[in-house]
Amino acid sequence: MTIDNLKIEFEKKFNKAAEHIFFCPGRVNLIGEHIDYNGGMVMPCAITMGTTLLVAKNDENIFRFRAVDFPETTDVALQSAYSKAGDEWFNYPVGVIHECSKAGIDLTGLDFLFSGNLPIGSGLSSSASIEVLTAHALNEMFNAGMSRVELALLGKRVENDFMGLNSGIMDQFAVAMGKSSNAVLLNCDTLDYQYLPFEIGDYVLAIINTNKPRKLVESKYNERFNECRTALKALQQKLNITHLCEISMEDFNANKQLINNPVVENRALHVVAEDERVKKAKDALLSGDIKTFGELMYASHDSLQNLYEVSGAELDTIVEFAKTFEGCIGARMTGAGFGGCAIALVKREQFDDFKEQIIPFYEERIGYKPGVFSSVIAEGVRTIV
Ligand code: GLA
Repeated sequence: MTIDNLKIEFEKKFNKAAEHIFFCPGRVNLIGEHIDYNGGMVMPCAITMGTTLLVAKNDENIFRFRAVDFPETTDVALQSAYSKAGDEWFNYPVGVIHECSKAGIDLTGLDFLFSGNLPIGSGLSSSASIEVLTAHALNEMFNAGMSRVELALLGKRVENDFMGLNSGIMDQFAVAMGKSSNAVLLNCDTLDYQYLPFEIGDYVLAIINTNKPRKLVESKYNERFNECRTALKALQQKLNITHLCEISMEDFNANKQLINNPVVENRALHVVAEDERVKKAKDALLSGDIKTFGELMYASHDSLQNLYEVSGAELDTIVEFAKTFEGCIGARMTGAGFGGCAIALVKREQFDDFKEQIIPFYEERIGYKPGVFSSVIAEGVRTIV
């Protein structure tokens, strides 16, 4: 929907004009998967698709939540603390209001209209997008003075404490801090970051959506989180570390027998190796060696498929096709996995062929079509009006 149509929609729902319009993108992660909650290095970037919010104050001390894309609505009275109700979309902005109240920000009633073009449950961080979007809106409207990094941290608290998912900081950081044409190289332990120009020459960044219905992602995600904690505890018997990503491959190999569980050992091996891949990917990008970057993407996928076991037939089919396509130099699942999206580096002039060929290949194996588009790296959260 265009901004003008959204304004009309807002007026229809609330009988008044919107006062402000804000936008927050989604993200893809180029490399560094499932290591943000292990203190590792990740390399996400914000994309052009995202969530738009139109909002106006009301003097009734009520928060009204409406969305263009969802029929569910709720009205919540202004109070000192809020709790999650069911599994509906509006829990994310309610969670942000909860965190803002906890932080002492003096809110008044608000009418919200959300609209997004990120496929929901596709692993492009629609939830981080709505969290950081709402936090940015409240920050601007109530002059709360939070930095962008603080907005990201607030979004993470909503995810962890309000929604109950033990996710790391990557998604919120990427959508808050994204910079057009740049990847964000983030140290998830210290939050030190650096922008890396994503110069990929004749290639485009393709996003392939499995279109797999979202199932079990949260429980499997928390299971991996706990397996990493188990591995960390075992290694701490001998090593003085606070995160799995603090150890080198050499130290890991010398101490892995402490873990004493082959599955948990594989999880930890993925984490340690993936962190090293991100560092290599950074060097490859800085020296313009896109081929090596692509190879690291394939290696990352392989590890997520076989060691960390968060891929699945849908994502593997995409990567398998990518490997046979001559104009593609790297592909991998992105985000939490178990469905969602894969990314690929495809020769610009062959992108249309890639799209034309991957759709029937995937459909024959999986039974329905994937979504395929090329993406541009965009800015993080912003004020439109
Ligand atoms: C989800 C989480 C992130 C990160 C990725 C996997 O997107 O929200 O914090 O852990 O999965 O890398």
